[in-house]
Amino acid sequence: SNTAKLQCPTCIKLGIPGSYFCSQDCFKKSWSTHKQQHKKAKGASIYDPWPDFTFSGKLRPWPVTPKRAVPDNITRPDYANDSKGTPHSELAARGTSQILVLSDEDQESLRVACKLGREVLDIGAEAVAVGVTTDEIDRLIHEATIDRDCYPSPLNYYRFPKSCCTSVNEVICHGIPDKRPLTDGDIVNIDVTVYHRGFHGDLNETLLVGNVDDVTKKLVGVTWDCLDYAMQAVKPGMRYRDIGAIIQKHAQANGFSVVRSYCGHGIHRLFHTAPNVPHYAKNKAVGVMKAGHSFTIEPMISEGVWRDMVWPDNWTAVTQDGRRSAQFEHTLLVTDTGVDILTQRPGTSRPHFMDQLG
Ligand SMILES: *[C@@H]1O[C@H](CO)[C@@H](O)[C@H](O)[C@H]1NC(C)=O
Ligand SMILES: *[C@@H]1O[C@H](CO)[C@@H](O)[C@H](O)[C@H]1NC(C)=O
Ligand SMILES: *[C@@H]1O[C@H](CO)[C@@H](O)[C@H](O)[C@H]1NC(C)=O
Ligand SMILES: *[C@@H]1O[C@H](CO)[C@@H](O)[C@H](O)[C@H]1NC(C)=O
Ligand SMILES: [Zn+2]
Ligand SMILES: [Zn+2]
Repeated sequence: SNTAKLQCPTCIKLGIPGSYFCSQDCFKKSWSTHKQQHKKAKGASIYDPWPDFTFSGKLRPWPVTPKRAVPDNITRPDYANDSKGTPHSELAARGTSQILVLSDEDQESLRVACKLGREVLDIGAEAVAVGVTTDEIDRLIHEATIDRDCYPSPLNYYRFPKSCCTSVNEVICHGIPDKRPLTDGDIVNIDVTVYHRGFHGDLNETLLVGNVDDVTKKLVGVTWDCLDYAMQAVKPGMRYRDIGAIIQKHAQANGFSVVRSYCGHGIHRLFHTAPNVPHYAKNKAVGVMKAGHSFTIEPMISEGVWRDMVWPDNWTAVTQDGRRSAQFEHTLLVTDTGVDILTQRPGTSRPHFMDQLG
């Protein structure tokens, strides 16, 4: 009988024990399954759903766990049960640029949804660490959301498969939580929206994982400042189209670019509605701010080019050059004198990454 004496050179290099082959031929034959062991040993994804796709950066998709269940007694938005996840009420309102002025009662409901959204995001943010999967963060967020009698708004929205978005490194937005463990030096944006008693509260933050390099820290800091400066300009009479110039000026002064494909949006009973709030200068957005308007500002700032592309999952938006992108988002309410940041962390305006800088 043949004794297996040949050893795979890559296994030797990676320190994988016990991989002996009887001949070159049997090594070749088993190569396609054997090479998975190398990927595993390197901590890389062995999942390769789109073999013909050219990725722009280093991040790869990992397996996604099944959709999580929401108890029947939690009130859902119209797309939650829809087989295509179509938000019918949102589509019915499309085409009008009319911006709703919320009644006092509606403002109070939006305030409650935003406060619950903040609690949920904080739970997800606290779990961020090297080795934790984004699927685990999604699980925590899902549980925290239903514990608060809320529906996780992203779930089944145009059939989005998970309860929050987690966007790692070159992912600009709409990353799908999966089994990839977070790695030292990553950044991850966690995007939470909860639906409570008919209102959506939407926020997201970019967090640092372990030891992040200085350029990335600068990117995250500049992105936060872009949102902060834009929020300071919110008051009755301000044109929605003028927000973008504030953001672009600060991003460009620091050598970064502003993503153009995704904009801030009106939010209340509808998840995404008028106004449209572009984050870049010289846009043609319609509308003037009035007390009682509610909308998000959510600048996405990239280290390299502003152009994005979408993975074949039709969700994950990444930078075209594979360099990193960061984002912060708040839901805002225009008041008689300025702005109320409905998704503010209680007792502080600091986002988590500032606490992580240490
Ligand atoms: C929904 O039902 C669960 C138990 O089945 C209960 O714990 C929870 O309080 C209920 N929530 C609401 C909003 O009724
Ligand atoms: C969705 O389905 C659940 C039960 O599966 C039901 O209780 C709920 O009323 C439905 N919601 C909508 C918005 O159709
Ligand atoms: C931040 O939140 C909004 C949800 O309205 C979304 O449009 C945006 O893409 C989110 N960002 C990320 C990184 O998921
Ligand atoms: C993505 O969209 C394309 C074009 O509409 C479609 O053919 C494809 O099946 C979609 N992929 C997924 C994973 O939904
Ligand atoms: Zn090997
Ligand atoms: Zn938003």
